[in-house]
Order: sequence, then structure tokens, then C-alpha cells
Amino acid sequence: MEDSAMGWCVRRCCIVACVAALGLAMASGAQAAGVLAIVASGRSLSAADLLHVPGVKRADLSGPALGLGRDVAVVPLAALLDPGAGLSFRAADAFVAGIDAAAFASARRTGAEPWIAIETTPWPRRRNGDDRGPFALVWLGPGAAGVPRERWVDSLVAIAPLDGPALPVAQTARTQAGRAAFAADCAPCHRLLGAGDGALGPDLGQPMNATRYLTFEGFRSIVRDPRAVRAWPGQRMEGFSPAALPDAQLAAIWAYLGSLSPPAGRGRMPAPQHSPDR
Ligand code: HEC
Repeated sequence: MEDSAMGWCVRRCCIVACVAALGLAMASGAQAAGVLAIVASGRSLSAADLLHVPGVKRADLSGPALGLGRDVAVVPLAALLDPGAGLSFRAADAFVAGIDAAAFASARRTGAEPWIAIETTPWPRRRNGDDRGPFALVWLGPGAAGVPRERWVDSLVAIAPLDGPALPVAQTARTQAGRAAFAADCAPCHRLLGAGDGALGPDLGQPMNATRYLTFEGFRSIVRDPRAVRAWPGQRMEGFSPAALPDAQLAAIWAYLGSLSPPAGRGRMPAPQHSPDR
């Protein structure tokens, strides 16, 4: 739909303008090229540094997850740092993918390994025109196509040890399933009662828990297709199809969120809505 001739032209012109601007910046030596911060080791690496890392090769990343191109320079993540207990991958727009040791291990079992892609020729832009370079977390190997979209990170700016406060605990099997689904699918953008690193979307637990002001139907509509509920140009959340997030998991997320909401006061004055740490 967005591939109208007009949309194509606008995106195409963005790329042309970007290349022109980059050329200008390089000619004047004004703007340092983007760097990737490896927080664990205190290093900041430029594209040129990364292209000298042992193991660099070219890969076909034209697949559906990011669609960066058929011939993209990549370096193995393992050559840069040890994932340890887990890593968080932060994008320029505050999207954060937290990938713990278990998630790395389950990807490895399917034959998918993490790599860092480096933009050497311009990558296609996002639908809203945002730049996606110069670095990205990508997955290569037989199981790469099965790695969820939330674990592919474009406009990657920093890699840090995974150490943010853990998501609130869940008490029942159902809410535990909801917590796991929230961690994988929602935490890249939403915090929960302050926990997590995602900051692209609102905290869904405070000041008011989302289950207090949404109905389940409304919640499901937002998760399946946010544009069916409200639409505006700056909108960033993408819908989750039933294939990406089955109904049972969606309902489990709702149950988990609801379990964190203080019960509505029965005849009592509701407690003031202060977050516990302020
Ligand atoms: C790519 C980032 C991203 C992901 C992943 C994401 N969201 Fe969102 N979400 C947003 C943003 C940003 C908004 C604010 C509206 C907008 O810009 O789309 C939002 C809004 C919402 C809202 C409406 C909140 C309000 O008060 O209006 C709900 C509910 C929601 N998201 C639930 C979820 C759930 C549940 C998941 C996981 C299944 C999820 N989101 C995954 C970015 C994301």
C-alpha cells in the first residue's frame, strides 16, 4: 500500500538527499560518522574499526526481518564481546532488545548466530523515513528466519550488559506465560512499573495500569493493529499478527498486567497513585 509511486519517490529522494548530505559532511570533515558503543568494555567503534574485526564477511540480509540488502558487511558479535548473562541492544530511537543467555542459547540450537551489520552502501529507510544505519543486530544461519523480529535491531547505537531491574514477578502459570511474552514482545518498547529499558512506548503499569482504562477488546485491538484504534503520522507500534503472538499469549499478557494492578477499592477510597520509588 505504501509502495505507491509517490511513497517510493519520497523514500528514494530521502536516500538521495541523505547520500548528498553525507558527502557534504565527509567533504567538510564536520560530522564524525556514527559509532557503536560497546558499554561492557568502554569502547566506541566506528564502521571502519568494525570492518577490521576478524571474521568480517558479506551476507545476504534481504530477508523479511530487516531487508537491508543482498550484500551487507557483517562481523560476528562473538568477536566483539562475550554475551555473558545477556546483552541489551539499544537503537537510536530508544527501542531496546534485551537478549538473555537463554535466548542466545535457544537461537544457537536452531543454528542462528548474532552478527553486527555495517552500512557501507545506503540501507533502505524505514517507512516513516528514519535512517536505519549505520549498524544493526542481525541473525545468520539456518534458524535465522525463526528469530523474532524484536531481536533484529536497526539504527543500533549501543550494546550493554543486561542489568536493568527485572520485570515484576508473576504468581500463576498463566501470568508467568504473560510475563515471558511481555519480556520478549513488549519490553523492547514498554517498561512495566519502571522495569526494563524500553522507552519508545509508554510504561504500561504506571501511573495507571493499562488494564484499568482499557477493555480487553480495546487492548486486543491495539496489539493486533494499533492503527485500527487510533492513527497518526508519528505512530511507532506495529501490530502483532496471531502468528507472531497467538491469542492465548495475548490474553496471558493481559492477565499478567492485570495481576500488577491494585484491586479497585471496594467501597474504600482508592490509594493515591504514587509509584513506589518516588
Ligand atoms: C516497536 C515498539 C513497540 C512494541 C514492540 C510494542 N509497543 Fe505498544 N506501543 C508502542 C508505542 C510507541 C506506543 C504509543 C503509541 C504509538 O506510537 O504507537 C504504544 C502503545 C501501546 C498501548 C496503548 C497505551 C496507551 O495508553 O495508549 C498498548 C496497550 C500497548 N502499546 C501494548 C503493547 C503490548 C501488549 C505489546 C507487546 C505484545 C507492545 N505494545 C509492543 C511501541 C511498541
